[in-house]
Amino acid sequence: MSAVPAPLPPEAPGPDLRVDLGRGLVLPNPVGLASGTAGYGFELRQLIDLDRLGALFTKGTTLRPRDGNPPPRVAEVRGGMLNSIGLHNPGVEHVAAVYAAEFTRWRVPVVVNVAGGNVDDYLGCLDRLDAAEGIAGYELNISCPNIANGLDYGRDPVAAARLVAATRARTNRHLMVKLSPNVTDIAAVARAVEDAGADSVSAVNTYVGMKIHRGIRAPVLPGRGTGGLSGPVIKPLALAAVAQVRAAVSIPVVGVGGIMDAGDAQEFLIAGANAVQVGTATFVNPAAALEVLDGLLALALRSGIGRPPGRPGGAVRAVPPAGIEPASTG
Ligand SMILES: Cc1cc2nc3c(=O)[nH]c(=O)nc-3n(C[C@H](O)[C@H](O)[C@H](O)COP(=O)(O)O)c2cc1C
Repeated sequence: MSAVPAPLPPEAPGPDLRVDLGRGLVLPNPVGLASGTAGYGFELRQLIDLDRLGALFTKGTTLRPRDGNPPPRVAEVRGGMLNSIGLHNPGVEHVAAVYAAEFTRWRVPVVVNVAGGNVDDYLGCLDRLDAAEGIAGYELNISCPNIANGLDYGRDPVAAARLVAATRARTNRHLMVKLSPNVTDIAAVARAVEDAGADSVSAVNTYVGMKIHRGIRAPVLPGRGTGGLSGPVIKPLALAAVAQVRAAVSIPVVGVGGIMDAGDAQEFLIAGANAVQVGTATFVNPAAALEVLDGLLALALRSGIGRPPGRPGGAVRAVPPAGIEPASTG
């Protein structure tokens, strides 16, 4: 078992926005980078002070290296983007043997996003990663819309629970489960993974979408023609999903989907998220997550959210629960 990266020291200047997600994973602040939008952090580190952030959620990592889908793999749409990367990653061995050693030197907690096609894939990944230092926890990706069977676990509460129970029995590190919005009842899946032993959930992954090229009368993305929709266009949908999940579970909820600035992040906290992830915004502005953090810090100073500077004790929610009930449409 590796040591969890140290939280901000109590005497750090500014409001204390630490978030305790459970099982030893304490984020120094509620703003993380979403999986797949910052790789493993190496490129982004050259551009921004990654160590100020609450967490880095890595690219989805699989048992074997994957080249992903053939290009084109991304397409811009109004208000966001579609991606069909297909879990391009170097494989768990490389992540555990090479990248994790680097992570031990970083202050930002690194949560490895883990993906697979069956339970054994996930367990194989966790076994290898558990043997490495420098990893603060896992985000189980049961919601990738861009690989065959990628959504099987995310769509079926029974299958999701079976996977989470198996992984829970295998690791003592923090286990977050990334929920798919491409389901009829996201609350049912959230409840199932909580009951099976998940420490937290993140919501949401991308929505299945399509862009059509009128000239060639065909989808822009190859293969099935679909991709994962992200960016500001999904924010209202993601907020509704977070509110639904918040009402369904008592474990922490990490909100993600279309966050571009601190105001967006605040809306997710009000909807019931304990922390947030910034994804597509980083492609527009590499410093977007830091700007979200600075905005929340300024807000905390003005309105007194978080603990006053220097006050010891366990982490608190950045904003009290709003008690939002998910409304149904007519
Ligand atoms: C290019 C790209 C790659 C992604 N790869 C992953 C991934 O490997 N694993 C995962 O759980 N989510 C992945 N996501 C989903 C994001 O982590 C996030 O849930 C989603 O994009 C919504 O947030 P956003 O609107 O802020 O981007 C990816 C998203 C994008 C845009």
